[in-house]
Formats: sequence, C-alpha cells, structure tokens
Amino acid sequence: MNMESNSFKDKVVLVSGGLGDIGQAVALEFGKQGARIAISDIVDEETASHKLGAMDDLGITYRYDQADVSNGSAVNEWILKVEEAWGQMDIAIVNAAKVTLKNLQEITDQEWEKEIQVNLNGAFFMANAACKSFVKHEIEGNIVFLGSWAAHAAHINIPAYTVSKAALRMLCKTMALTYAENGIRVNEIAPGYVNAGLSKAVWEQDPSLAQEASARVPVRKLIEADEVAKQVSWLCLPSNRHTTGSTLLMDGGLSLIRTK
Ligand SMILES: NC(=O)c1ccc[n+]([C@@H]2O[C@H](COP(=O)([O-])OP(=O)(O)OC[C@H]3O[C@@H](n4cnc5c(N)ncnc54)[C@H](O)[C@@H]3O)[C@@H](O)[C@H]2O)c1
Repeated sequence: MNMESNSFKDKVVLVSGGLGDIGQAVALEFGKQGARIAISDIVDEETASHKLGAMDDLGITYRYDQADVSNGSAVNEWILKVEEAWGQMDIAIVNAAKVTLKNLQEITDQEWEKEIQVNLNGAFFMANAACKSFVKHEIEGNIVFLGSWAAHAAHINIPAYTVSKAALRMLCKTMALTYAENGIRVNEIAPGYVNAGLSKAVWEQDPSLAQEASARVPVRKLIEADEVAKQVSWLCLPSNRHTTGSTLLMDGGLSLIRTK
C-alpha cells in the first residue's frame, strides 16, 4: 500500500456522502494514513463500486453501505453494520449535503424541507449516533462537520443551504460541550469556494457565478478537494486534543470582505 504516514493506522473512519468530491478526497486521505474507511451515500452498491476504484488502486480497506442520512433509522443501521464488521469506530466525517440554487421567492416548501433534512437533521442523526457509539465503547473519538464559510453571511441564492450550515455550527458547539467529558472532540471545517462538488455543480448551472467567485476570493485561488481533506484529517490528530467546538475557516479571506 502507498501509505503517506500511519497516523490513523487501523482507525475506523466513517464518511457520509463519501462518493462526492470532498467525501472521496477525505476517504482517500484517511485511507492513505492507514485507516479503514466506511463510506455511505445514496446510490446502490453497483453504482458506488464504479466510483471507488481509486480506493482499490491504493489498497485501502473500505466498505460501502447505501444510507440516506436524512433517515435516522438508516443512519443507525449503517453504524451498527460498521460496528459489527470492525468492532468500533473512531472518527465520523459528517459530509453529505445538497444545495438548491433558488432564492426565497422561488424555493418550494418541499425543497426547503429536504435540504434542512439532509444538511442539518442528517448531520445530527449521524454525529449523535457516532458520539453514542464512542461513549458505549469508551472511545475518545472525533467528529468533523463539513460546514461552510457561507454559514456566517446571507447568500440570497442559496438560503436553505446557508441556514442549514449556520445551524450546523451551533450543533457542533453544543455537541462539543455535551461530549467533552467523554474525551470526544467535535469540530467544523468551513471551506470557501472549492473547485469541486456542490460549488462546481452550481457554477455549471450559471457559469457567470464561477468567474465572479474566483475573482472575489482575496487569495485569488479556489480550494481543491484534497486540500480540504488534509485539514479534516489534521483536525483529528491527537496533537489537537484541546481543539473542540471550533470552526477551522479555510475561505481564502472571503469572509473578511466588506462591500461598503
Ligand atoms: N464544494 C464546495 O465549494 C463546498 C464549500 C464548502 C463546504 N462544502 C461542503 O462539503 C461537503 C461535500 O460537498 P461536495 O462539494 O463534495 O459535494 P458533492 O455533491 O460532490 O458531494 C455530496 C455527496 O453527498 C451525497 N448525498 C446527498 N444527499 C445525501 C443523503 N441524503 N444521504 C447521503 N448522502 C447524500 C451526494 O450523493 C454526494 O455524493 C458538503 O457538506 C458541502 O456543504 C462544499
């Protein structure tokens, strides 16, 4: 195996939405550092297997389970299957999300409800089930939420997304305090514009937004998915044992801009 280091040797890492761009980068990053990876996403196993070739190529130990995070029972079943297979789990990367490019006048009740259900309730289902598993097995585990720089400012074209990510930030803090006495750490990573996944999908719908985006970032660079993955894994290192309830902002200075 082409290991970069053994920082997470034999640790069990769960990644929701693990077939997406950032999810895949996170799975590969932990896998290269020796972890066993439990991926979930919404597609069936056959479709998933076509996307998991890079994990095979690197000889990473992984499993795939179809689990819709917006369904709490499905999430619990996934976690039970991972525990049955590998005995315990150590790290949960709460990554699955969707975005609807519609302002408040356009978005339907159903679209709003679904986005909150996946991005916020789904994140709660997964992270809280993981924390309960850590407590049961006396594991000083880690949760990392994939948040967004967009949590702190109104983005009128993606309102359900920003509301879900703002609430996620408070969930992160509340969960961090609740489980701190168990040695569990809960943190959020908040990327700006990533040249992948949900942003790329939005830019494909409206290419003018892509040009605007890269011109707006103060450091004049978009983030790559593997750069996000490296920061996610770094947060889980034991050397960060005092870091909990925090947000690691990696937005190239976007949130520093004032318009007037
Ligand atoms: N791409 C960006 O610019 C950016 C910026 C900041 C934060 N993020 C966050 O990073 C995370 C990953 O996003 P991405 O950009 O890789 O997008 P992506 O669309 O490539 O990945 C998201 C994955 O989640 C899966 N998913 C959707 N609904 C699901 C459900 N109900 N249950 C299980 N899985 C589900 C999708 O099938 C997909 O594989 C998200 O939380 C997103 O908010 C992305």
